[in-house]
Amino acid sequence: GLPIDVDLSAIEPGGTIIVTWRSNPYFVRHLTEEEIASASELTEGDMKDYAPVDGRIAAAEESANPEWVIVSATCTHLGCVPNTVDNAPEGWFCPCHGSVFDMTGRILRGPAPINLPLPPYVFADATTLVVG
Ligand code: FES
Repeated sequence: GLPIDVDLSAIEPGGTIIVTWRSNPYFVRHLTEEEIASASELTEGDMKDYAPVDGRIAAAEESANPEWVIVSATCTHLGCVPNTVDNAPEGWFCPCHGSVFDMTGRILRGPAPINLPLPPYVFADATTLVVG
């Protein structure tokens, strides 16, 4: 379970990569301004496992605004890997049984009981994420 370095420099806004840490997949998503705005508009009533958006997105060093989400890519229902839904306010859709998560991994609808977990991470510099 050693930490892993992730180079963020090639991930454009709206882009996602999947990294593996401790044998499990995690999404690293460069959020667009629209995605941050959509997630920020959701309220406690929209969620069954309420968590504030601030704790689920982060900025790399030297960046004024939060623009990254690093979140488990394992559905909290039965473990499928969700997909992104382009041009939808929801972020992630699990094709197995239809759970819908916002872009920060908070469960909105469907059978998944809890949010997608966040791994421990830090930004080593403006373009390097360290997961673990
Ligand atoms: Fe994702 Fe069932 S495994 S909804």
